Formats: sequence, C-alpha cells, structure tokens
Amino acid sequence: MTDAAGGMNYSTYLRVDELLALQTVQSSPEHPDEMLFIVVHQASELWFKVLLHELEQLIVALQHFDTMRALLAVQRVNVLMEIVAQQLSALDTLPPQRFAQFRGYLGASSGSQSEQFRAIEATAGLRDPHFLAAIADHGEPPAAVARALARPTLQALVEVLLDHEQVALEVLYSGPGPTPLFLLVEGLLEFEQRFARWRFLHVQLVERIIGPGTTGTGGTLGAKYLARTMSQRFFPALWAVRSAFYGKGG
Ligand code: HEM
Repeated sequence: MTDAAGGMNYSTYLRVDELLALQTVQSSPEHPDEMLFIVVHQASELWFKVLLHELEQLIVALQHFDTMRALLAVQRVNVLMEIVAQQLSALDTLPPQRFAQFRGYLGASSGSQSEQFRAIEATAGLRDPHFLAAIADHGEPPAAVARALARPTLQALVEVLLDHEQVALEVLYSGPGPTPLFLLVEGLLEFEQRFARWRFLHVQLVERIIGPGTTGTGGTLGAKYLARTMSQRFFPALWAVRSAFYGKGG
C-alpha cells in the first residue's frame, strides 16, 4: 500500500508482499522445518546477488587502478561473505531424522545448481578442472557464469595493477611498511579464507544432517565431493608469496 500522499512506504519500496509470497513449502502435510530450509537458501541467494554486485565494483576499481576504492569494495565483500557463512548455522538446528522427512520433496534440486554461487567462483577466478567439470555437468553454463569465465581472474587484475604501480608482489611483503596495495592483497586473501570458511561450515552441516557417506540430491558423493572443493584456490600467487620467508621444509 502507498501512503496518503501516494509516495513510497516500507512495503511498496521493499516489495514485502511479493517477497513473503515466495516461500513455497513442498511437503504435504507441511513439514514445520521446511520453511527454515527454504528461507536460508533464499536469503543466501539474495546475499550472493549483493556479493556479485560488489565484486563488479571491485573489478571496475581494479581496472581503473583505483586501489582505495578496490580496498573499500573488498572490505564489503568480506563482511558479506561472513554473513552468508554464518547463516548456515540456522540449519545446524535441523536434526537428521527431521530433514529425512521432507528431503524427498526436493527432487533433484541441489545447491550445486546455484548459478550465482558458480558465478561468484568464476568471477573470483576459480579455474580448477574439477570446478570447470562441475559447470559442464549442467550443460551450457548460465550467461553470468560464461561471462565471468571469459574475463580475467581477480588475481590477473591485481597483477596488472601491480605492474601499473611498478611494484612486485614480493616487495609488498618485504618493503618498508604496509601500503594500501598491501592491505588490498591481504583483503583478497581474506576473501578467499572467508569463502573457504563457507565451504567448511557447509560441508560440516552436510555431514551433520545427512552423514559423511550419503550422496547428494544433485548426484555427487555429498560430503566427500564437497570436502575436495576446499583445496581450490582463487589466488594461488597470494598464498605462494608467503613461502618466500621460509626455507625449504621450514
Ligand atoms: C540441510 C542443509 C543442506 C544440505 C544437506 C546440503 C547438501 C548439499 C550436498 C550433498 C551438496 C553436493 C551436491 C549434491 O550432490 O547435491 C551441496 C552442494 C551445495 N550446496 Fe548445500 N546443503 C544444505 C544447505 C545449503 C545451503 C543453506 C546453501 C546456501 C545457498 C547451500 C548451497 C550449496 C551450494 C552452493 C553447493 C555447491 C557447492 C560446490 O559445488 O562447491 N547448501 N549441498
């Protein structure tokens, strides 16, 4: 409803009625835990949307060699990543026997079909063969994923920025003091760490609810498949640079 002056109000601006009409519980009779299951997924997709939007801001800043703007963008991306990871804990309250009561209603739907999650991975720069195979498994990649795969990784954009500033990555870590560029690359490493934390919390949630040996509704090995994704890296160079400070086996 609009207010007396015909202007915006809370529910018209946010389209609350439409938003709250989107939680279609499939179980019949309605299982009391399915609403939570749907809302955590839908809320995650909303946060993925904002994350992709903010990653775009980060890319534009990097392309313009605007380190301070890139730093602001990466800080926001990192807070969003933390929020989306923490939300998974709501589902830790879902006991296995209760999920089993409505899991059948999900059919073949699975988080592995989340286009936005794949777009985030592709935008960040994941090019791991297992990742590319997981995308290919679902036929033609969605447009956002294909677009992200066709452009440079975040790591490549940072390398161009460093070239432009005429500073080698190693020098950021061994130079006289912390610089905005140093904070930026550490912020990106933090993004990778927080993303991996999502993966960890998710795989633990999966083990907690369906156990380590149950296959997923998407047809993978379930927790075993998910555990393998934890070694994938967006920024291999940012991890490798640290070794320079330690001798072999050090
Ligand atoms: C009861 C809770 C959950 C269970 C039991 C579960 C289970 C699984 C399983 C078994 C997979 C592997 C793919 C498959 O074979 O289906 C998977 C993948 C995935 N799930 Fe979940 N999940 C849960 C909650 C969530 C939530 C809340 C999200 C948030 C969006 C989510 C997002 C994803 C994503 C993005 C993948 C793909 C991960 C990758 O390929 O690296 N899941 N999930």
